[in-house]
Amino acid sequence: MEEKEFAEIISIITQQTGIVPRESHKVGIMNFIEKRKKEIDLGGVPYSVFLRLNKDELCVLLNASTVNETYFFREESQFLLLKDKILPEIRANLGSKPIRIWSAASSSGEEIYSLFLLAQSLGLKTECVASDINTAVLEKCAKGVYTPNSVKLVDGAKFHHLLAKYLKTDKSVSFPEEICKQIERRQINLSLVAESFPRGVNVIFIRNVFIYFTSEMKKQILSKIVNESLADGGYLFVSMSELPSIDASILPKNLKKCCDGKVFYFKKEG
Ligand SMILES: C[S@@+](CC[C@H](N)C(=O)[O-])C[C@H]1O[C@@H](n2cnc3c(N)ncnc32)[C@H](O)[C@@H]1O
Repeated sequence: MEEKEFAEIISIITQQTGIVPRESHKVGIMNFIEKRKKEIDLGGVPYSVFLRLNKDELCVLLNASTVNETYFFREESQFLLLKDKILPEIRANLGSKPIRIWSAASSSGEEIYSLFLLAQSLGLKTECVASDINTAVLEKCAKGVYTPNSVKLVDGAKFHHLLAKYLKTDKSVSFPEEICKQIERRQINLSLVAESFPRGVNVIFIRNVFIYFTSEMKKQILSKIVNESLADGGYLFVSMSELPSIDASILPKNLKKCCDGKVFYFKKEG
């Protein structure tokens, strides 16, 4: 494919998702397009034109352009802090009301099931939302069936006992329908100003997605989340590796950066 056409496709991806792919990421996208062009009948038009004319194909390309790596209880130290400090504090404030949890950019759902299982183990009622731009990963989340790759020994093991009931002998994980039903799934594009975000959320996990966005986009998303979604006193977690890029210049004034031991998180004042 010509450089100019590929650049146009990358710019469509960025316009639609906010994702600015790095060079290594671009190689994967290029390989996907070359493969895709052999599978479909383009009717003689360039792929970039076909994309603009065909919404379903755009969805196929966007699904293939996201990086969906995730696993249960990723960044275990954040889950330890939730268990020991944050969830008990929220419970004390909410009383018998359910705690609202949103995994924004949830990928296939390991993150939201981890949060659900932890809250459940502490006797908390929950309203859980998993959202992503990628429709294929949301379907996987709905099925609640995971290969052993979603359970890593190097991180998350302190909480694997919460998965024990759902572990098969081959180390895959399968949640029954009554658990899957507890997770509401929504396709939400974080980069769209007009998108409707969940409201009154007590805990938001938005991890390992900011790495794909510009500072301007991160600022826009954080501001929308804080104004629209996060309840007063609510908590927001990003991945520890993303923290350095979330500096004072993009942080909404009422979102305070906090630290407990080695774990950083954000809290909405109010
Ligand atoms: C690496 S996964 C992170 C999964 C999980 N949060 C974690 O940390 O393990 C990044 C996810 O962000 C999603 N994503 C990328 N751009 C997005 C956007 N504009 N809106 C919503 N989700 C997006 C991708 O589809 C992908 O599933």
